[in-house]
Amino acid sequence: METKELIDRLERDHILTQEEYTAIITNHTTQDMEYLFEKARKLREQYYQKDVYVRGLIEFSNYCKNDCFYCGIRCSNRNAQRYRLREDEILECANQGYELGFRTFVLQGGEDLSYSARQIGELVKKIKQAHPDCAITLSIGEREKEVYQYWYDCGAQRYLLRHETATKEHYQALHPKEMSWEHRIQCLRDLKEIGYQVGAGFMVGSPYQTAAHLAKELCFLKDFDPHMVGIGPFIAQKDSPFAKEKNGTLRETLLMLGLIRLTLPKVLLPATTALGTIDPKGREKGILAGANVVMPNLSPVSVRKKYELYDNKICTGEESAQCRGCLENRMESVGYHIVTSRGDYVSFFENK
Ligand code: SAM
Ligand code: FES
Repeated sequence: METKELIDRLERDHILTQEEYTAIITNHTTQDMEYLFEKARKLREQYYQKDVYVRGLIEFSNYCKNDCFYCGIRCSNRNAQRYRLREDEILECANQGYELGFRTFVLQGGEDLSYSARQIGELVKKIKQAHPDCAITLSIGEREKEVYQYWYDCGAQRYLLRHETATKEHYQALHPKEMSWEHRIQCLRDLKEIGYQVGAGFMVGSPYQTAAHLAKELCFLKDFDPHMVGIGPFIAQKDSPFAKEKNGTLRETLLMLGLIRLTLPKVLLPATTALGTIDPKGREKGILAGANVVMPNLSPVSVRKKYELYDNKICTGEESAQCRGCLENRMESVGYHIVTSRGDYVSFFENK
């Protein structure tokens, strides 16, 4: 079947077989991509119009107990300059963000067990007390279901945990043997069961990834049906075991954004910082391929550079207000506009 016909069918049914997804990923032309993006924009505009949601990202610790082979803050990277923000510093970031119009905050960090579950819970409660109209997303890795439940009860409603790859053997090639793909997937299932709006996701172009793997990602996402999907290109980090590996490409990342939009029409889909890092207009192009979220950085500038997951990360010298303004202009330049609402998954509350 022609690639365009497969795209038509995906637009109509929102599902293809793994072989059909593989065929698109392997055979598509530049024209096919334009065709896909047009349909992806049409679909996202049906649910979200020209709105782009913003999430204020607070990267509060770069200590991590894990040793993922691709990541710049892995525990065995001796060159990483470690930092962790105190509670009052994190609250200050949230307050500043609130002043700038942010109504959702993403608290992200390495798996830093020096913050107890209770401390994180208290932090969530304090942000919610100060700003009851805000939504809080946590993105701090794998924990017990009871801990996720406790944080949810404290007021966190969303959780971002990229599954990294839907293929167990591929996961094992990207992580040390102590890390378990099954456990990560179980965490995602636990989060969903508790009632979080859940974000899954993966890197595009990570080492050993094939077209069949990417196709499997789409089948996995269709089956798991997350509220958010965070994807970005893999970018080599100079101190990591993958320092010499090839980066993921703009083209393949945009293709995956478009395919994800047609597969999960209502999904919250960020045009990520990594996409902006491999191409100066990466985030704008991501929006034009079907994305509907951007995540400017609200961390203090003094620590920004230290949260270096990959080389040449953008926005490490800009103040929060600068990033906010910069993204506003970038979105306007392609005909979209930033909205300062909580930006919930469309129909999330009606389904409950
Ligand atoms: N510790 C939390 C977790 O495990 O979910 C959140 C932080 S983790 C550093 C955030 C994401 O960064 C990972 O899920 C991974 O997909 C991405 N990441 C790490 N290293 C990367 C690299 N070299 N290139 C692109 N993305 C990377
Ligand atoms: Fe940070 Fe453009 S978004 S400087």
